[in-house]
Amino acid sequence: MGFNIAIDGPAGAGKSTIARKVAREISFIYVDTGAMYRAIALYFLRHHVSPDMEEQVTQACNQIEIEIRYENQEQQVFLNGENVTSYLRTEEVGNMASVSSANPTVRQKLLDLQRQIAKKENVLMDGRDIGSHVLPDAPLKIYLTASAQTRAQRRYRELTEKGIPCDLEEIKNDIEERDYRDMHRKTAPLVQAEDAVLIDSSEMTIDQVVQKILALYREYC
Ligand code: DC
Repeated sequence: MGFNIAIDGPAGAGKSTIARKVAREISFIYVDTGAMYRAIALYFLRHHVSPDMEEQVTQACNQIEIEIRYENQEQQVFLNGENVTSYLRTEEVGNMASVSSANPTVRQKLLDLQRQIAKKENVLMDGRDIGSHVLPDAPLKIYLTASAQTRAQRRYRELTEKGIPCDLEEIKNDIEERDYRDMHRKTAPLVQAEDAVLIDSSEMTIDQVVQKILALYREYC
């Protein structure tokens, strides 16, 4: 059994950036579970699967095989043998993932895969339900959050720096809608596990959050 660290929190809290840095520092494998949900969402978009049509979803899930591999310590997601990693970060895929991940058939499909990976390796896994559902026995759980305003501003800055035109209010609304969907779905919603350490990064730099998690790791391991 590997040593597992769970990091959960809402969209845009900086989980993946921070988790990647912490994992490198302590030589853990970083598992981005959002990317797995995004790969299923990509399949749904490509094959016009409607996430609320149960029969279509079940049929699609039977056709889907997700595999995780690592190249230069970076997670690569394979969808039916195709490396789809570079297609996963679009708004379209993210929005579909937020809806399709509420479906219990989709969640069950990924649950076993996530647990299998965590059983074999020392992993730092991030997502929405890792501490509360996927790895309830993880010795260290973090709930990383920031205000919707801060998360929207960070996203706005990121897009503007890439030269992508965007609107701050629209981004904030999108974040709030996504939070609502993630927190209110019936199956494995986003919640802070009872034994998770809360970190609000609204007034913290990335490095401060990384250092805080490293200090917790040294305390808990
Ligand atoms: O973290 P992310 O934005 O890549 O995640 C995309 C969507 O996947 C997100 O809206 C919610 C869902 N998700 C989930 O339900 N459970 C997880 N463990 C990870 C992501």
